[in-house]
Amino acid sequence: MSAEQQPQVSEAQIAVHWREEEYYQPPEAFIAQANAADPAILERFAEEHFPECFTEYANLLDWDAGWHTTLDTSNPPFWKWFVGGRLNACYNCVDRHLATSRNKAALIWVPEPETEDTKAVTYQELYRRVNEFAALLRDFAGLQTGDRVTFHLPMVPELPVAMLACARLGVIHSEVFGGFSGAACGDRIADSGSRILVTMDGYYRNGDLVDHKTKADEALDRAAALGQRVDKVLVWRRHPGQYASKSPMVDGRDFFVDELLADYRGRLVEPVSMPAEAPLFLMYTSGTTGRPKGCQHSTGGYLAYVAGTSKYYQDIHPTDTYWCAADIGWITGHSYIVYGPLALGTTSVMYEGVPTYPDPGRPWRIAERLGVTIFHTAPTTIRMLRKLGPDEPGKYHYRFKHMTTVGEPIEPEVWRWYHDTVGKGTAVIVDTWWQTENGGFLGATLPALQPMKPGSCGPGVLGVYPVIYDENGDVVEAGSGRAGNICIRNPWPGIFQTVWGQPDRFVQIYYERYCRDKDSTDWHDWPYFAGDGAVQAADGYFRILGRVDDVINVAGHRLGTKELESASLTVPEIAEAAAVPVIDELRGRAVEMYVALKPGLAPSDDIARKVTAAIEHEIGKIARPANVWIVPDMPKTRSGKIMRRVIAGISNFTDVGDVSTLANPEIVDDIRHHIQAAKLARGQVPRELTAQEAEEIKAFGHTE
Ligand code: WTA
Repeated sequence: MSAEQQPQVSEAQIAVHWREEEYYQPPEAFIAQANAADPAILERFAEEHFPECFTEYANLLDWDAGWHTTLDTSNPPFWKWFVGGRLNACYNCVDRHLATSRNKAALIWVPEPETEDTKAVTYQELYRRVNEFAALLRDFAGLQTGDRVTFHLPMVPELPVAMLACARLGVIHSEVFGGFSGAACGDRIADSGSRILVTMDGYYRNGDLVDHKTKADEALDRAAALGQRVDKVLVWRRHPGQYASKSPMVDGRDFFVDELLADYRGRLVEPVSMPAEAPLFLMYTSGTTGRPKGCQHSTGGYLAYVAGTSKYYQDIHPTDTYWCAADIGWITGHSYIVYGPLALGTTSVMYEGVPTYPDPGRPWRIAERLGVTIFHTAPTTIRMLRKLGPDEPGKYHYRFKHMTTVGEPIEPEVWRWYHDTVGKGTAVIVDTWWQTENGGFLGATLPALQPMKPGSCGPGVLGVYPVIYDENGDVVEAGSGRAGNICIRNPWPGIFQTVWGQPDRFVQIYYERYCRDKDSTDWHDWPYFAGDGAVQAADGYFRILGRVDDVINVAGHRLGTKELESASLTVPEIAEAAAVPVIDELRGRAVEMYVALKPGLAPSDDIARKVTAAIEHEIGKIARPANVWIVPDMPKTRSGKIMRRVIAGISNFTDVGDVSTLANPEIVDDIRHHIQAAKLARGQVPRELTAQEAEEIKAFGHTE
């Protein structure tokens, strides 16, 4: 074939070859008790019943007033669900369960130190604590419906208490993952315009009582520099009455919550009846540009969606003991530790610490002791537990009926260990694909009705109709073996409402790519662009390949390359920086930074250390790069753009592709030689990449 005859395929369309995995059928015992065991449910949610099918989810909630319009598309793509309806999310997660389940555990909190007692918080106790804290937020902190409040809280019951207290008042909460740095928290305080910060003095992580309050001081400095003043810092104490931080309490600004609460004992606050469309919370996530995006989630649509998916996909019954081992600081914890399970009135387990502390048998000890029936975690944790304690699950007498995986693609062999060893061959696995922006699951199998296939998330969930488009907007057919951009053709109730304060970016990032007609108010013209590459098998199951934008998924956490690069550029010696992913056995992907110095400066370990410190300071330890490489120059295009795919190829020991069109092709061999020799010396040669991983590395940065 001559060059002209070759079909023009872009990188996202390149055929991806792998072996088709076999199906696993759900056990009979699971099917017999499943919430969704009748295939009629698939029919009820078929496209001809959209959007009314979602009233089934909304009917799981108690409404103060019914809605008149299920889906309002008059201002696309700002979809409105259940318009006219009113409800309170806290009432739905707490108050309405009191009549039947007052003394049932809503939360079971497992502290990290095994010497500390597990604490059960009953629905009654949760009700009391939420009311008291809501009274404090309203009367002491002066928060009103529609205000934003930032939390920087670890995995302690005070976090769901604070979330539900806000929900009770119609105050919009914005929880920042506890592992993020003070500076990252400050950025989010400023972006959301919060005047109140709720934090904690310390928490246990890997055996240490971490000083957390110090981050509040950094956060306030950063927020102030960005023009946002915080009036009050409300500090919970991990051990009430004992202060565990070295950071001084600032008089008139910082207050111990356990002391303040004495004045609010027994106080009750009426739940505020909110419009379905009122924002419930913000959750920040990383994207293509430096600034994190505050995903704004609604009250009615969101709560209905997480309740419905918790019921049918997590198969939560009120009698289950459900443990989602995510952190509430991420969307998974919001939807599937707090709002979904509590809306259904189940018992939700929270664990404070690291899954492998003090040994990799810890999760299974917790499961055995508490009688956990549903277990939910991420591939990174599964890989880690498999590596450190492959035989540990067999030593404990727990019995899961259901297990979830979320956040990253799971390798089939890891899936099989999860199934055979953790699930003991008797639990179903539901691989759930979705994003911070989505509120709840987008792709997953209905566990009693659709067989499992390792490495595939399954078809679109009930009422969600995904499609794969190529670069030209043509549909990539199922079974074609070609990859493309996975999109969702229709709105669904859990979709976020906007990017906080940046409606233009909301439209531009998620809808512009495949919008057919900007003047149309027909949702069919507005497919949602998820930013993931995917392949659809002939059976309709999707296999998610990873991000197509400049996001690196490290241990299930989304890190934007631009954020990593701008953090590096805060080091005065650095002139240019580029972040690339490397394949990592445990964390899925890790980050490597390439930096070039300002003229006249000599490379040193000290400068590399400063780059790492800057990233930890600006983002947090989760973003710490595996390596910082100081290079004489970056490979660049003639127009001066850094070619990230070339350096990603070097870091992963894969083909760097055609470099002849670079402005400085000679630099490539130079860097490759230097860096690969250093990685060899450090014992960091990656295993041979799968075809899929190699494609990902090759495509990295191609959006530029
Ligand atoms: C990836 C987490 C493969 C994907 C809920 C997505 C997955 C990003 C899966 C969102 C899965 C999430 N299989 N990849 N089951 N779930 N992802 O916003 O690339 O933290 O775009 O939401 O994680 O990450 P986020």
